[in-house]
Amino acid sequence: MRLSLQPGRSWTRTLPGLCLLVLAPTLMGQEAADFFRQNCTSCHTIGGGRLTGPDLKGVAQRADRDWFVRFLVNPQAVVDRGDPYAQKIVQEARGVVMPTISGMTPARAEALLDLIDAESKLDKSQFMGVQITDRPFTAAEIQAGRQIFRGEHALKNKGPACISCHTARDLGGLSGGQLGPDLTRAFERLEGRKTLAAWLSAPATPTMAPIFKKHPLDSEEILPLIAYLENQAAGGGEDMSSGKLTFLLIGLGGAGLMLVLFDLAWRTRFRSVRKQLVLSSTGRGEE
Ligand code: HEC
Ligand code: HEC
Repeated sequence: MRLSLQPGRSWTRTLPGLCLLVLAPTLMGQEAADFFRQNCTSCHTIGGGRLTGPDLKGVAQRADRDWFVRFLVNPQAVVDRGDPYAQKIVQEARGVVMPTISGMTPARAEALLDLIDAESKLDKSQFMGVQITDRPFTAAEIQAGRQIFRGEHALKNKGPACISCHTARDLGGLSGGQLGPDLTRAFERLEGRKTLAAWLSAPATPTMAPIFKKHPLDSEEILPLIAYLENQAAGGGEDMSSGKLTFLLIGLGGAGLMLVLFDLAWRTRFRSVRKQLVLSSTGRGEE
């Protein structure tokens, strides 16, 4: 009994140590990959073409390692030194200088450069970015995007529906959330399909980032959402115009008037008072 336990004991003692040895590099790689996904993919792909910043596939061949580490830690300082290579890449980026990324240290820069190297060797890097088609979107794709936006199709990774914080032209009035901006013109603000796709796959703004870091959009949800937002932008009209008007009416004490108007509008559609109350309190009356 005793003898047979002995090897078991030492095994349980060494196992965690062994696991750490084997896992440490993978964990560090995973950390770099997570950091890259959150902080870099809104401007860079690896093998998917230029966004705001250059495609990083094979970047190690363009300058030496020390240069990249210095650049990553403080891009502006390197550019200000008047270094010809920095001048060239800034020019190619139409004058946009890469921002200093918070949390960047020389060690992290090294880990990111290792990651970029490893990903550059793959046929298809996980950071190729969303490859988005040039063809016109179909009505079905636009409709699918509308349903995702409105929460009629739950998001695969359990993120909250866009409509809880955003509205868009075809919703009008108060039906969408007001915490985030009206997205009617987001397609133009984010400069079209490719950059919008990159943006949606890793939103980098203060409210969106923490939520969609935990619950990222699935790549199959991004295409229909872009189709929908492109369609909203193409329809003309201004952000928030109807929303502002509705607020104004309420602000002016027009609530009573609105109720009368709603009542008139719905009287012919729903006889039952109760149905009317349910519909208006869930905000789905417009549909
Ligand atoms: C807001 C956009 C933006 C973000 C975010 C960003 N970059 Fe950049 N990056 C650029 C631009 C633009 C350039 C081109 C040089 C310039 O104009 O400053 C660049 C250049 C680079 C280069 C040199 C490319 C070359 O061809 O020599 C590397 C490497 C790089 N970025 C890595 C990263 C990493 C890693 C991250 C995330 C930690 C990151 N960048 C985040 C915009 C960005
Ligand atoms: C919890 C609230 C919330 C949810 C849910 C949400 N957003 Fe946002 N969104 C915001 C806020 C707030 C902003 C403004 C920037 C920031 O603070 O993040 C924003 C910004 C944006 C922008 C940039 C707009 C611009 O013009 O710059 C886009 C695009 C966007 N959201 C798309 C979406 C999509 C698509 C969904 C659904 C998949 C969604 N958001 C879900 C709150 C939200």
